[in-house]
Amino acid sequence: MIPVRHCLKLVPLCSQIRHGSRMFPQLKRGSFNRITDEDVNRFTGIVGETGIKTEELDHYNTDWLNTVSGFTELVISPKSVEEVAAVLRHCNERRLAVVPQGGNTGLVGGSNPVFDEIVLSLERLNNISHIDPYAGIVECEAGVILQNLSDKVGEHGYTVPLDLGARGSCFIGGNLATHAGGLRVVRYGQLRGSVLGMRVVLPDGQILDGRSNMRKDNTGYDIKQLFIGSEGTLGVITDVSLLLPQSPVSVNMALLGCDSFDDVIKCYRLSRQCLGEIVSACEFMDSLCMTSVNDILGLASPLENSHKFYYLVETSGMNMDHDMEKLETCIEKVFESGCATDGVMAASKDQARHMMSLRENIAPALKAVGFNYKYDVSLPIQHMYSLVEQIRNKIRLTEGAFSVGYGHLGDNNLHLNVITPHYSAQALSLIEPFVYEEVSRLKGSISAEHGMGLKKANYLRYSKDPSMIAMMRSLKDVFDPNGIMNPYKLLPWND
Ligand code: FAD
Ligand code: MLT
Ligand code: ZN
Repeated sequence: MIPVRHCLKLVPLCSQIRHGSRMFPQLKRGSFNRITDEDVNRFTGIVGETGIKTEELDHYNTDWLNTVSGFTELVISPKSVEEVAAVLRHCNERRLAVVPQGGNTGLVGGSNPVFDEIVLSLERLNNISHIDPYAGIVECEAGVILQNLSDKVGEHGYTVPLDLGARGSCFIGGNLATHAGGLRVVRYGQLRGSVLGMRVVLPDGQILDGRSNMRKDNTGYDIKQLFIGSEGTLGVITDVSLLLPQSPVSVNMALLGCDSFDDVIKCYRLSRQCLGEIVSACEFMDSLCMTSVNDILGLASPLENSHKFYYLVETSGMNMDHDMEKLETCIEKVFESGCATDGVMAASKDQARHMMSLRENIAPALKAVGFNYKYDVSLPIQHMYSLVEQIRNKIRLTEGAFSVGYGHLGDNNLHLNVITPHYSAQALSLIEPFVYEEVSRLKGSISAEHGMGLKKANYLRYSKDPSMIAMMRSLKDVFDPNGIMNPYKLLPWND
């Protein structure tokens, strides 16, 4: 294994960016119309001058990872659902392609144009309309930043049942459109289970009003679920009602050092057994991840020695003494069993935050050192790390390349990342389609949480039967017969 400090070299990020269409040279622009001055005037009439941008659009054109970039010349930011509807109606009539964009933190090239698609930004649709303190429900617009939502409901003693490293930039609408996972799935379940109601605008301007604050509703098809995880290909999510859990009173954290991935799994099993209902995150990372956050971001490990693997377990509960006692007993059992050789418990909120920041900052640390090929897969837990080892072996002769594994252990969700100093089609060919074939063979999912976007659309068949893909296409035709919504994303474009 190459120590990360020897192989990582900072490279200017602008040299990493590939235009979406250049990364996939076989991808051709669809037969959409090009924007005219008349169109721009029409859009200005709908959203006003302040809702239109035609200059300095790099931020909207390029993804967070600096890996793909498009050529939009127009960003439209509506301020109401009616404005979204009027904009989409015009786009549909004129056959102008549209990319809905939230906080632009997506990791699969889904939120950026590939060619000259219009970016429809939700950034001005950011009102938190109502918090029901009795029922624990928040109603808000799609453009609310996750952190802001979390802070606001926190004032009422609630928390958002979703948390992720991009919380300061991603929007709740983007979280819904990607069906984001994150750190709390192990505790609160997948986001779709907490969505009570949603309002969505279809490409023809129709407003589908599915707003509701009822927990129980068995009045037929649950249409909102189709839009959760649809990645902007069916319509634009504008409003949501979410059911909120109580904020925990006590949060505790332990970081354990392990000699093997098998030991990590044993620690995980023991922690679930001992901690039961108070577990709120079960994360793991390998030694290269830890070295990366230490060396690149200067975040120190609280453990004195380095280890092959790290397991992070968090508890959230309502009684500090009770929770602390449970965690202490758990750690004792872990050491008795020998599955961890080292470990620390956070003694304060700041220490707990620091421990979690080591895990959350893996993505930013890796982004800083080169081109990232990101894989985000579900696998049976015992096979999660062998995929990282197989890829490590495949890329061993590629200069400057290294691979790491980390992820949401409690959700069987592995983040396998390969990093090369610059984009390399040759490195990519060593990884793909191998990764997808392996995941398919093990009956996993090729996207556990980031979605398909542009980068993975053509590999959908590795996780979905042809009958399911055909049904997805039929649904796309029902909602978006002109195909203007986020073309080239999610559904395969090469067949
Ligand atoms: P964008 O990136 O703007 O858009 C994502 C997709 O949704 C695009 O296809 C876009 O067209 C569509 N879209 C956006 N808004 C709407 C809307 N209102 N209506 C219809 N379509 C829309 N993901 C996880 O699941 N778990 C994690 O732990 C996690 N951690 C992350 C950590 C970092 C540091 C970063 C950078 C990303 C992380 N992500 C994670 C990726 C994740 O997908 C996003 O952070 C988030 O869910 C995307 O929200 P966004 O508002 O940025 O959406
Ligand atoms: C994470 O869990 O850190 C995110 O999904 C981002 C990533 O995969 O790097
Ligand atoms: Zn993740």
